[in-house]
Amino acid sequence: MRVVEAFRETFDAEPRGVWHAPGRVNLIGEHTDYNDGFVLPFAVPWGVTAAVSPRADGVVRLWSLQAGTPLTVETLDEAEGWARYAVGVFWALREAGHPVGGADLVIDGDVPRGAGLSSSAALEVAVGTALNELYGLGLAKMEVALVAQRAENDFVGMPCGIMDQAASALGEQGKALFLDCRSLAGRTIPLDLAAHGLQLLIINTGVHHELADGRYARRRQDCENAAKRLGVDALRDVTDLAGALGRLSGDERRRTQHVVTENHRVEAVIGLLRAGAVREIGALLNASHLSLRDQFEVSCPELDVAVEASIRGGARGARMTGGGFGGSAVALVADDRVKTVRDAVTRAYAERGWAAPGIHPATPAAGARRLA
Ligand code: GLA
Repeated sequence: MRVVEAFRETFDAEPRGVWHAPGRVNLIGEHTDYNDGFVLPFAVPWGVTAAVSPRADGVVRLWSLQAGTPLTVETLDEAEGWARYAVGVFWALREAGHPVGGADLVIDGDVPRGAGLSSSAALEVAVGTALNELYGLGLAKMEVALVAQRAENDFVGMPCGIMDQAASALGEQGKALFLDCRSLAGRTIPLDLAAHGLQLLIINTGVHHELADGRYARRRQDCENAAKRLGVDALRDVTDLAGALGRLSGDERRRTQHVVTENHRVEAVIGLLRAGAVREIGALLNASHLSLRDQFEVSCPELDVAVEASIRGGARGARMTGGGFGGSAVALVADDRVKTVRDAVTRAYAERGWAAPGIHPATPAAGARRLA
């Protein structure tokens, strides 16, 4: 493994172990996690691999095969850029009272760039899983996910929900993760696309209209304001949608409409998957996209074109996935339509003078684990 070779070269020693944590793609349930709602992501075959040894002196030394120069962090707050996602995990564990010292780490990642497939959650969960084992903390997978989320919320400063970290920590090969983000009860649901003659194409727009620039936080704030106005703990608790919409206006009204209907769409997809009717979920994916575009307002032209071209090319359904403002769309496509969908999307981008999007089929991969 090249991460082990790099560790030997950088630190002149053998790593104590090697851990991997994947990125994720979300089938449906977008911007529902921080509203205590439902999500249905799965872990992707790309992620972050970390070779790690513990250090008694509390110092963290980091080296990324993608980022270049090695970094020594004596006090955690010195870390900058990508390193904050890794170092934040040390911080969050120590904050929670866990006896965590330092570490030497070499990091290798293969999540496609700018794809919005949660390379940051993969990094956090890889580091969290390694430290959990190296320091004998005995944390369950969901606890590692929560520590990773805490690192991102309070150390990096991105107010994300739990979906990405949970998918990375708890994903299973061949299965999607149906997560209730209030109770944190997760159930894996078999998702054997090939058995149904289907592929899920991830269409990477390659653009990133800054997610952490405050727009995500603003959406979250709209949702919290709406919940407060409605007198519920979270939008998850809205049972009378028509009544709620009658009491809201503007952004709060639109955000609420999205979140409540999106939760229903997740449940409908679960029902269809349980019935073995995965081919029938397409209409729900399309409806999710329209709701994210028009009510939640987190899409962008590149995502809309990817979705529209996919559907024109014969996809059974398509939607943006993840936080939005760029990143990736997903398209559910029958095997015999994969070429027409790829061609339609590629052509639509070329016509607009946009760089060709990366198009990758994805199947559910295993979650965080020790490799060596
Ligand atoms: C980002 C966040 C997640 C979730 C999605 C939207 O990926 O990290 O917690 O809110 O956006 O569903």
